[in-house]
Amino acid sequence: MILAIETSCDDTCAAVIENDGQIRSNVISSQESHGRFGGVVPEIASRQHLELINLVIEQALGQAAATLDDLELLAATQGPGLIGALLVGLSTAKALAAARELPFAAVDHLQGHVAANFLKTAGGERGAFEPPFLCLIASGGHTLLASVAKHDGYEVLGRTLDDAAGEAFDKGARMLGLGYPGGAALERLGASGDPGAFSFPGSATERARGGRGAQHRAFAEGLDFSFAGLKTALLYTLRDLPEGELPARAADLAASYQAAIVETLVTRTERALERTGSERLAVGGGVAANGELRRRLGELPVSVHIPDRLLCTDNAAMIASAARFGERLAYPAYLGLDAYASGESPR
Ligand code: KG4
Ligand code: ZN
Repeated sequence: MILAIETSCDDTCAAVIENDGQIRSNVISSQESHGRFGGVVPEIASRQHLELINLVIEQALGQAAATLDDLELLAATQGPGLIGALLVGLSTAKALAAARELPFAAVDHLQGHVAANFLKTAGGERGAFEPPFLCLIASGGHTLLASVAKHDGYEVLGRTLDDAAGEAFDKGARMLGLGYPGGAALERLGASGDPGAFSFPGSATERARGGRGAQHRAFAEGLDFSFAGLKTALLYTLRDLPEGELPARAADLAASYQAAIVETLVTRTERALERTGSERLAVGGGVAANGELRRRLGELPVSVHIPDRLLCTDNAAMIASAARFGERLAYPAYLGLDAYASGESPR
């Protein structure tokens, strides 16, 4: 069995999976205390990870009906993420491994989101989705399209040039007066709204009007993403809204804003499928919990695998899944491993 820990942001997560990718437990403790600050406060996040981590590990072992004696491999997210937060999970996992002289796997968070697709869900009712496939990763910090040819790596075909899709959701939610993180709240608000009420950049109506110059067209036809213009468009729309009209228009604004993000993600994904000739699509990252995105991607004429919502948002089962296929370091080679905040592993 594999025990993995994920503490890259504000969720304290531990999971136990079997060596074949079957999930035994997947405990996620979300820190509620950041909402009033409108975003994650790094120092508060690390302190709360410290308070929660042992409890979360005990729960993960308990739910898996396992003890430390059953573990063959320890794993943790090494980066990217908040450095103090990462260090709590990484140090804990290294310490558990070292105490038993077990091997250790340091996992890249994005590789974890990809590897969520390799998991079998409880009871095995949904099987694993194996490479090769095209993968759309859309989270709070990253948005990318990747060609996944093997279990332990991927090639980036397109990425966001500014905000990540989740960041766009969160900033829009904030402008609409919803809490943090706002993706799910914005989705709920938009459920009763008209997605065609406002024409935001990236939306189907806006695209139908055609490009704005050669440079814009070159970008619009590529595989990269951009969400900064959308955010500004919402800001101006809100500013220009007649006094007192926001409550009556909030659901329409949320639905239209969501539609623009989803449209951008879906059109780029379709284009990447065409260009690569791939007939298999997988998805990952917190934004993949969005119902409208799941519905639209599910309609694409290829074989589509969308992990359960809890495996799309941050969790440790996906880290354990990546650990199955990544490099394992024998004791004590991993003791000096450090976390990294951005980019890729310094190893
Ligand atoms: O992957 P994730 O849990 O953490 C990061 O690695 O960033 O992604 C979090 C992001 C947040 O921006 C959150 O607002 C967004 O995923 N998100 C959603 C939904 N649920 C979470 N966005 C849109 N609709 C949702 N239902
Ligand atoms: Zn994530």
